[in-house]
Amino acid sequence: MPSIKVAILGFGTVGEGIYRILNERKEEIKKETGHTIDIVSILVRDTAKERLATPGTRITDDVQEIFATGDIDVVFEAIVGEEPAYSYLSEAIEKGCHVITANKTMFAQHGPALLKHAAFRGVQVCYEATTAGGVPIIRTISGLLPTDRVRRIRGIFNGTSNFILTKMREEGIPFEAALHEAQVLGYAEADPTDDIGGKDAFRKLMILSALSFGRQPDWQDVPIVGIDGVTIEAVKDASAGKLRYRHVADIALDENGALHGSVGPVLIGPEHPLYGVDGVDNAIIVDTDHLGALTLIGPGAGMYPTASAMVGDLLQIVGKREAVVVTS
Ligand SMILES: NC(=O)c1ccc[n+]([C@@H]2O[C@H](COP(=O)([O-])OP(=O)(O)OC[C@H]3O[C@@H](n4cnc5c(N)ncnc54)[C@H](OP(=O)(O)O)[C@@H]3O)[C@@H](O)[C@H]2O)c1
Repeated sequence: MPSIKVAILGFGTVGEGIYRILNERKEEIKKETGHTIDIVSILVRDTAKERLATPGTRITDDVQEIFATGDIDVVFEAIVGEEPAYSYLSEAIEKGCHVITANKTMFAQHGPALLKHAAFRGVQVCYEATTAGGVPIIRTISGLLPTDRVRRIRGIFNGTSNFILTKMREEGIPFEAALHEAQVLGYAEADPTDDIGGKDAFRKLMILSALSFGRQPDWQDVPIVGIDGVTIEAVKDASAGKLRYRHVADIALDENGALHGSVGPVLIGPEHPLYGVDGVDNAIIVDTDHLGALTLIGPGAGMYPTASAMVGDLLQIVGKREAVVVTS
């Protein structure tokens, strides 16, 4: 049985999820693809940290140890921040590996360069998990593009912000109390700045812009407003008028071909497709020439939704068998 050798960079929430799914679904993956998946190496920052046992897999804090063997077919990347993730993935592509990433901070900035590099080297870069976690938005838009044209993308891209706005409305509590609840429940990071300040949603919007329109607007031209300025009084006033606050990232193509993006809280009424999307869910509306508006709703984060999107990417790569270097 031919095997595909993979490395996982990062073994936190997402990295561990990838490991678990690849093991739990071993037989199904073998049946579906005809290949076994061999998790050769895992990269972490601190090898002394106590973590899930991974028998037969090398755990290292030295990425060169992973690349030196020259036998890795696919690199999963689930570390945090632009660097060293971008450098590691550039090196992986240069060495002929396919890459699958969940790292939106890195991909919003460097995705176009990685995709260009990968095309030159004849490998694939998959990034479904960077945007809306388990919601298959990248696959959906990629599937539409050959026959249709995307006009506008808007949606709720940050589950933490949506959870906080929902709590404020349902329980009548102020922003700080709702944020605290999100942190206690593990929905918000210890440092929630990028979530509540709108940067996280902005990055996902830029990733979708590059995919859908082949380019991103100048980042400075996109106003980014978070939910931290939304008061409980404003939420109550909105509710009294049957309106709801949603934190919406929006990008549209105008008739002259210019892109207009914005990220911030907006008031919407009951007829709007985002009106009923409460809690940590993400929701994305894609407007196209042929379909009108298509709405996708689902879990935007979490170990299994995110890792499952990445394993889905692997199956997509393996499906294109001629592109994969398979070792026996
Ligand atoms: N969590 C989610 O639901 C979710 C959803 C979508 C996308 N993402 C993205 O997925 C990525 C991973 O998120 P996460 O929640 O799994 O993060 P996490 O729990 O903080 O785990 C990060 C992992 O990366 C390792 N790491 C960090 N910097 C490293 C470095 N310089 N060299 C080697 N290893 C390094 C850490 O090593 P140690 O364990 O030794 O500290 C840890 O194992 C992020 O880019 C995030 O934005 C996450």
